[in-house]
Amino acid sequence: MSSVRLRGIEIAYTDEGSGAPIVFLHGFPFNRSMWRDQIDALRETHRVIAPDLRGHGESEVAPVTIPEMARDVAGLLTALDINQAVVGGLSMGGYVALSFCRQFSERVTALLLADTRASADTEEGKQNRALQAERVMLEGMEGIANEMLPKLLRPESKPDVVSRVRQMIVRTKPLGAVAALQAMATRDDQTDFLSRINKPTLILVGVEDVITPLKDSQLMLHEIQRSSLEIIQQAGHVSNLEQPEQFNRLVNVFLERTFVSNQQQTAKN
Ligand code: MLT
Repeated sequence: MSSVRLRGIEIAYTDEGSGAPIVFLHGFPFNRSMWRDQIDALRETHRVIAPDLRGHGESEVAPVTIPEMARDVAGLLTALDINQAVVGGLSMGGYVALSFCRQFSERVTALLLADTRASADTEEGKQNRALQAERVMLEGMEGIANEMLPKLLRPESKPDVVSRVRQMIVRTKPLGAVAALQAMATRDDQTDFLSRINKPTLILVGVEDVITPLKDSQLMLHEIQRSSLEIIQQAGHVSNLEQPEQFNRLVNVFLERTFVSNQQQTAKN
């Protein structure tokens, strides 16, 4: 396992391939293994980095906020001698990607926002997080896995996908999950920031996502000037795992377009 110590906490990460860097940020309560299909598909042409965000996977647990998770990503990129990267995240990873863009805009080549939203939690959402945190402490991660799986994936999802998602959830440390629930409940609303994003942005959403439904992506499309939206068919919230081929194809087309247009821009200057 590769890891780096950032502000006193050990952060585990994957770093494979070579080429223009792209960093993938996982959702809650998952870990970097959710990006395996994307890493395999992109490593021939890109340097692909995927950390376990604080409290998840093999990284250490500590109280955390979404902006702090974004600062960890910046610290990791610095440790890897990477100045700029395409920054992509799914769901909670998308909250972190938006926060990263807000804090370190000059380090973002392009953004990839999958099955995520810019708005903060509603009061009801915050109360649900508190109940979920209580449940985690009482029942461990099994209870949360049973509660979340029907919302994360479609009923028709392949058994191996269901099993991968369940494994990620039950392997998450309960205290890490509680810290992330608090981080998500207290995160800022990023809607006002969207119109200030001036980076090529690909928004992806599973057509059957019930956690961050299509309307959340449509709002981001409306507000982010250089954005495009792609809808992944036969996918729920974890669209990269349910439909890796569609997801990877759309990401590849976006990356090709982004790097060609960046090169043209550099040639013009
Ligand atoms: C995730 O997939 O990261 C979470 O479902 C996001 C959330 O609960 O807001």
